[in-house]
Amino acid sequence: MESPFDVLGVDPDADDVAVERAYRERVLEAHPDHGGSMREFQRVRAAYAAIQEDRPEEFERARREDTDETATPEAADEGGSAEDEEAEVPDGVRVEYLDYDVLADLGLEIDDEDLFARAAEADLDRSEYGEMWVPHDEPLLKSAEAHGLTWPYACRGGACSNCAVAVRGGEMPMPTGHILPEEWLNRGIRLSCLSAPTSDEAQVVFNVKHLPGLDDLRLPPSRFDKARLND
Ligand code: FES
Repeated sequence: MESPFDVLGVDPDADDVAVERAYRERVLEAHPDHGGSMREFQRVRAAYAAIQEDRPEEFERARREDTDETATPEAADEGGSAEDEEAEVPDGVRVEYLDYDVLADLGLEIDDEDLFARAAEADLDRSEYGEMWVPHDEPLLKSAEAHGLTWPYACRGGACSNCAVAVRGGEMPMPTGHILPEEWLNRGIRLSCLSAPTSDEAQVVFNVKHLPGLDDLRLPPSRFDKARLND
């Protein structure tokens, strides 16, 4: 039976760094936007979650049940069509993202009306500008990572501004229990480790931790094992 380690292509004894690296590669290949399918994308994500939460047997059992179900004549008759693949896609939010660090080079300001239209015309790397699909109720940072993007963070718990994004379109409510002052919330700043988009579409500028004032709320990444070195 296929284990979550098989799905990611890593040895069961692989350390966290190797597992995370393998996950980032596999989830990119599996994503529908990059030639994969929603079924495969979800399989890779489930495998990674099972490893992280130390429940590989549960993953294997779920896969076995899934295989048994799809092996029935009824399922075989129904399976494999493009419509079925589409029907599997859960409700989600199409999020357009842009890296704050590239704005100056493009001669753009974060409040420009046509910010995203001009970014779309620029020859930016996918890590700097692009679109991604975010499942409802999933924090934006988690989803960005599931798409193979490396956005800054430190505490992952609302206690810093390292993961801050500026919402330029759509809705992204901020849950309680965070350090952002009201004035930043009113300016559309959200903490991507906690906040999830709720509108059909959203536009966010990530990497805004260097905005004057927000900078004061940053935490040194050295205090957290998983913080980005350049954060
Ligand atoms: S990483 Fe610290 S609040 Fe999100």
